[in-house]
Amino acid sequence: MPRILIIHGPNLNLLGKREPEIYGKISLAQINKSLKELAKEKNIELDIVQTNHEGEIVGLIGKAKSSFAGIIINPAAYTHTSVAIRDAIQATKIPTVEVHISNIYAREDFRHTSLIAPVVKGQVTGFGLYSYLLGLEAVLHLIHKK
Ligand code: DQA
Repeated sequence: MPRILIIHGPNLNLLGKREPEIYGKISLAQINKSLKELAKEKNIELDIVQTNHEGEIVGLIGKAKSSFAGIIINPAAYTHTSVAIRDAIQATKIPTVEVHISNIYAREDFRHTSLIAPVVKGQVTGFGLYSYLLGLEAVLHLIHKK
């Protein structure tokens, strides 16, 4: 059974309460529940982590190679700043998909640049919960294509 790592970056633990006009009312627990339901249907195993710490994300990606077939990451604010996360993704070579709840290109200028986008297989942005579900479908497609 393929295992997929899902990484939620900083402040995503606040979903539901944080700027609901941008991120909606859905909580992280609800997103994770929907992901687990889809994973069950698809017969895959998920490890889901939320962290506010850049170094922890780098560490998770760095040791993912031996245990995971794919990664879905919402790097949150680190999308726009983190060379360290970008380098970690580039080094792993595990099929990785970047997801965002909001459409980062429809927001402030500083969010229009993703340092992560050039090193992932693709990006899903702007569909709320469905960014994650589509991201999971995309990772499965990449794994099965191999
Ligand atoms: C986000 C978009 C980022 O710009 C922001 O810093 C976040 C969340 C999203 O999912 O829409 O924290 O990654």
